[in-house]
Amino acid sequence: MKVLVVGSGGREHALVWKIAQSPMVKKVYCAPGNPGISEVAECVDIDAENIEGLYNFALKKKIDLTVVGPEDVLVAGIVDRFKDKHLNIFGPNKRASVIEGSKVYAKTIMKKYGIPTADFKVFDDLKYAKKHISTCDFPLVIKADGLAKGKGVFVCKTLEEADRHIDDIMKEKIFGYAGERIVIEEFLSGEEVSILAITDGKTIVPLSSVQDHKAVYEGDKGPNTGGMGAYSPVPFVTDDLQSSIEENILVPIVHALKKENRPYKGVIYAGLMITNAGPKVLEFNARFGDPETQVLLMRMKSDLVPLLLSTVKNNIEEVEIEWHDGVSVCVIMASKGYPDKYEKGLPVFGLEAVKSVTNVQVFHAGTAIKDGKVVTNGGRVLGVTILERDLEKAQKNVYEAIKKLSFDGAYYRKDIGTKAINKKNL
Ligand SMILES: Nc1ncnc2c1ncn2[C@@H]1O[C@H](COP(=O)(O)OP(=O)(O)O)[C@@H](O)[C@H]1O
Ligand SMILES: [Mg+2]
Repeated sequence: MKVLVVGSGGREHALVWKIAQSPMVKKVYCAPGNPGISEVAECVDIDAENIEGLYNFALKKKIDLTVVGPEDVLVAGIVDRFKDKHLNIFGPNKRASVIEGSKVYAKTIMKKYGIPTADFKVFDDLKYAKKHISTCDFPLVIKADGLAKGKGVFVCKTLEEADRHIDDIMKEKIFGYAGERIVIEEFLSGEEVSILAITDGKTIVPLSSVQDHKAVYEGDKGPNTGGMGAYSPVPFVTDDLQSSIEENILVPIVHALKKENRPYKGVIYAGLMITNAGPKVLEFNARFGDPETQVLLMRMKSDLVPLLLSTVKNNIEEVEIEWHDGVSVCVIMASKGYPDKYEKGLPVFGLEAVKSVTNVQVFHAGTAIKDGKVVTNGGRVLGVTILERDLEKAQKNVYEAIKKLSFDGAYYRKDIGTKAINKKNL
């Protein structure tokens, strides 16, 4: 088989790394890819957003399966375009990916089908939104409806803060069209966890639990980022909790989308808050998470390709996943200043040395080649990922491995996994 992976981040590096290990696969392409990916796949110079370019490439090279990383490409309709010519592609089509593309849609369908989520109201008028918040308890949460690269959600502690964010979204239009409507919702407290499942639209195959670390600083302080690290499995997600999430959230959302004539195929990703009243949905994503994918694929023992193909062929019930024992941790090395302004083009050292460390994979997120050398090229630069017997050992050894890597101003959180370790020792 020939497989094409679309995207250029750490998630795509992990996908390519795993897919290339499949005995079913002869050749992996990645568009546009990155220097780490180019060690395992042939990178082709087509932007992830260039749907026509990708489509022509897949036709010309007779690609047997295309796997899409980023959400905006799904929401823009890449799957619909490929299906025109019966090209196999993994991911939801445009109508189904609205579950991520519109938070208003996601909240509305959850309410209609009784899927647990925070109470909310939708506004398309600044005046009414402001009137509403003057009657609310704080904190509360304001969310831009459309895609905002993970920057469209504000947890507001005060009325003034909320007022300012409503102005930014609806008056200053900092997210453009994506901010024409907003969701104002109840603040939920608890532990956050992500559960991803693969589905062919009828049956779901849930993956193991993961915890991401969104905030830039240790102790979950500072602004949100694309994700500073993750680990899997999450010890507080017991078998009972996992089953209840499957039964009350993942199965119902897939069935609801089918009923609404938006049959869903691909990854359905539930971002959850485990509250005192049980798990509630913060959001759904229509694709693999980043860096959740890095830890999940490190732990996955079975071949990923049959799982991906089965969504296209509608026979996912025949596929079972085997996991490696133990725990995986991924720590993101980021550029100084991220998620705000940061420098690019700084040389990265230690990439060869780290290859000799057992059980470690370094997934490239934001790197480029300059004068034959790897340099930084994004906010998140590398995802150092490990598989070990237990969380303590995984955490200790992943930070040992990181010491071998360096670039000017490299920043990483030193507490990825600490919350779970502390909880265990309570
Ligand atoms: N209702 C809520 N209560 C508390 N925190 C929330 C709530 N909704 C979102 N958050 C916080 O904001 C983050 C981002 O929100 P999310 O809905 O996942 O949007 P996105 O990933 O698109 O930015 C979440 O990971 C969570 O930490
Ligand atoms: Mg999220």
